[in-house]
Amino acid sequence: MLSQCKKPDGRFGRFLARGMNFGHSGLTKWGLGFIDIANDIDALDIGCGGGRTVERLAGIATDGKVIGIDYSPDAVAVARKKNRVLINEKRVQIFQEAVSSMKFSDGAFDLITAFETHYFWPDFRNDLKEVYRVTKQNGQLLIVGAVYKNKKYGRRNQRIVDAIGMTYLGIDEFREVLEGIGYSEFDALEEKNKRWLAVKCKKITGKSGGR
Ligand SMILES: C[S@@+](CC[C@H](N)C(=O)[O-])C[C@H]1O[C@@H](n2cnc3c(N)ncnc32)[C@H](O)[C@@H]1O
Repeated sequence: MLSQCKKPDGRFGRFLARGMNFGHSGLTKWGLGFIDIANDIDALDIGCGGGRTVERLAGIATDGKVIGIDYSPDAVAVARKKNRVLINEKRVQIFQEAVSSMKFSDGAFDLITAFETHYFWPDFRNDLKEVYRVTKQNGQLLIVGAVYKNKKYGRRNQRIVDAIGMTYLGIDEFREVLEGIGYSEFDALEEKNKRWLAVKCKKITGKSGGR
C-alpha cells in the first residue's frame, strides 16, 4: 500500500490515485489557503497523483496555466482523465516526469506545489535544487504533508518512515534545507489536530541567501 502511494502502479495504482483525489482534498484545500494565488500565474504541481490539485489550481489561476507532473504513468493517466476538459481548453498539461530532472526552462513557474509527495523524492536536497531552478523570480514554493517530525506523534511517523524510507523533517530542518538552496521568506503552518504541515518560501534572488 505504501509503495503504491510512492508510485501508483497498475489497476490498483489508478484506483488509489482516484481515491487520493478525495482522500487528500481537505489537506490540499487547507494547504492552498496558506498562500496567495493570483489568477494569471503559471503553476506546477509536482507528484500530481490523480490530478485534483491541478484542477483546483486551474480553478483559481483562471488566466494562467497549470502543469502537473508525476513519474507514475498510471497517475498521469488518471490525472489526464480528471482534467480532460481543461487540457482541451489548453489551460492544463499533465506530463510523465520525475522531479529530479524536469524538462522545463529556468524560472518557468510563479508557483510550485507539492502535496504528500516530497517524502518520496529520491534525493530531497538535490531535487529541491531542480525545483528552485524552475521557480520564477519572486515565485513561491508550497510543500504540504502529513508525515513530519513532531514530538507528539513521532512514534506513528517513525513506523511509516522505517517501512518505506521517506524524507522525514521537522519545521526547522525544512527551513535549513530551503534557505540553504536559496529560498527566502520561509514560513510554516501546522494543523495540529489533523497532523498536517505546510511550508512555503519564495525565490528572491539578490536578497541575502538568494542565488
Ligand atoms: C501520495 S501521492 C500524492 C498525490 C497527490 N499530490 C495528492 O495529494 O493526492 C504521491 C505522488 O507523488 C508521485 N511521486 C513520487 N516521487 C516522485 C518523483 N520523484 N517525481 C515525480 N512524482 C513523484 C507519486 O507517483 C504519487 O503519485
